[in-house]
Parts: sequence; structure tokens; C-alpha cells
Amino acid sequence: MTTREDFSPDSGGQGGTIALRQVCCIADGRALLDIGTLDIRPGERVAIVGHNGAGKSTLLRLLTGFASLTHGRVEVLGRDLSARPTPEQLRALRHEVGQIHQGLHLVGRLSALENTLIGSLGRVAGWRSWVRYFPAQERASAEAALHAVGLLPRARTRADKLSGGERQKVAIARLLLQRPKLILADEPTAALDPAAASEVCHLLAQAAQSATLISVVHNAALLPLLAERVIGLKNGRIAFDLPLAAVDDQKLVNLYRPDQFAPTVPWQMRESEPCSAL
Ligand SMILES: Nc1ncnc2c1ncn2[C@@H]1O[C@H](COP(=O)(O)OP(=O)(O)OP(=O)(O)O)[C@@H](O)[C@H]1O
Ligand SMILES: [Mg+2]
Repeated sequence: MTTREDFSPDSGGQGGTIALRQVCCIADGRALLDIGTLDIRPGERVAIVGHNGAGKSTLLRLLTGFASLTHGRVEVLGRDLSARPTPEQLRALRHEVGQIHQGLHLVGRLSALENTLIGSLGRVAGWRSWVRYFPAQERASAEAALHAVGLLPRARTRADKLSGGERQKVAIARLLLQRPKLILADEPTAALDPAAASEVCHLLAQAAQSATLISVVHNAALLPLLAERVIGLKNGRIAFDLPLAAVDDQKLVNLYRPDQFAPTVPWQMRESEPCSAL
């Protein structure tokens, strides 16, 4: 059972960016996440690595209230997500969290500039946000953000006419405009060529200069660009949580290697007691 004291500043809870205690997410009788303690402090740059289906995206979704918690406590930017947040509270949180996904979350029929301006919706109030009437100052900032990622010449191009790498850059321009406190980047370089991947990582790190950055990364070569701390997830559990310098090839090989003594039907074996917290 988690108590309020477990979230004291010393424990990295209140005042931190993220605090998880005895977290368990179960869906269809399967434990998707089973995490005892996880604290992430303001300004940290953290990478999450792990095999397909390890629970990386579920963890990011949990932090914005898109995945539901079965048990435990989750605090993000001082908000307690385990206390059934209202839609307004979730909206307020999501304005403070910037998210990047490969090709997703851009509106295809809107231009690069209009997609970038979506980053300012947290500041543009009332009817203006409904009709997407953006003040001149926000439009100028959006153009500056597109310029920063090298895409100002494509500002009027529809997002569905841009390449994957260009769409990623628009998503980063949107982050620059949003100025979030926390950035969640789920495989931000998926499907990009090596040069574009490294450029997108540099831009993302710049956009995160005054934010906490959590990225899901599959390519180990990109880790130094995005993280100083690496969390390895395996079957929904934290297998390691280490400074980047301590993560060597062997640790990654072990992380991705299937469990030697894994039961033939692993999730069925865990259904009787799907989470360590239960
Ligand atoms: N809404 C859901 N209901 C039931 N199971 C789900 C749901 N969402 C995800 N899962 C399952 O949870 C597990 C973890 O999924 P998740 O998307 O978090 O993995 P991941 O680590 O991001 O994998 P990948 O590297 O392939 O993106 C998978 O087995 C997936 O099938
Ligand atoms: Mg994923």
C-alpha cells in the first residue's frame, strides 16, 4: 500500500517530474506494467529501451492518462493521476506535456505552419482556439520554430505531403511553440534514415533544453544524443535503471534476449498473480 509519505520530496515524488509507486497495469488478464518505484527529476533526459511489447509505449501513455492504472500511484508534474483526474485536469496536464510519435498527431490536411500552431493551443483561449484563429505573435513564433528546424520554406505545405523526417521536424517545431515541461518521445526516429535520425535527435534535445525528456529509443547509437539515464524494460518490469555510461552492449543483449526459462505461455503463467504489488 502506498502512502502520501512515500511521495515526499526526499523520495523524489512531490517536486519531481514523475513518481511511480507500486504501479500495475493489467489488461485482459495480462500485466502490461509492473513497476515498484520510478522517479524522474526535472530536466532529466531519460531513454527507455526494451523488446517489442515490453511496455514502453504503455508507460508513456500512463504518464498522460491514456493508459489506465490497475493499482499504485502515479504523479506527473505534481498531479496525482491515480486519483481519477477529471477531463479538465487531464487537459491541463496534456498542455504541459509535449508528445512526439512517428507520423502520428499531425493533421494531414493542415499545413506545416498550422500543425505547428497547434502547439500554442494551451495559450490561445476560448473561441479563438475553436476556429484556430491564432494571434500574430503566435504565428510569428510558429514561423520562428519552423525556421529553427529548417522547414520554414515548407510552412504552407500540407502535412500529408511531407516526408516522414519532415513530419518529425514539424512535430518538434510544435514542441518548440508549446514549451512543455515534459516531453514524451515514442520512437521519434522510427523509419528515418541514419542522418535524419541523428538530426531529429539533435533538434529534439534542443527543444527539450528547459524540459524533462523521456524518449523510447530502439537504436542504441542514438542513446547519447537523447539520454544521460537509461531504463531497460523487460516484460513490463524495470530490468535496469542506469547512467548512460554504465549501459554496455552486454546489458542491452541481455535485455533483448528472451528469458532462458520463460514458460511456453508466459502471460498465462502470470495471470494468477499478474503483478508483484498485488
Ligand atoms: N489497450 C490494450 N489492451 C490490451 N493489451 C494492450 C493494450 N495496449 C497494449 N497492450 C499490450 O501491452 C503490451 C505492451 O505494449 P506496448 O505498446 O507498451 O509495447 P512497446 O514496448 O511499446 O512495444 P514496441 O517496441 O513494439 O512499440 C503488448 O503486449 C501489447 O499487446
Ligand atoms: Mg511502443
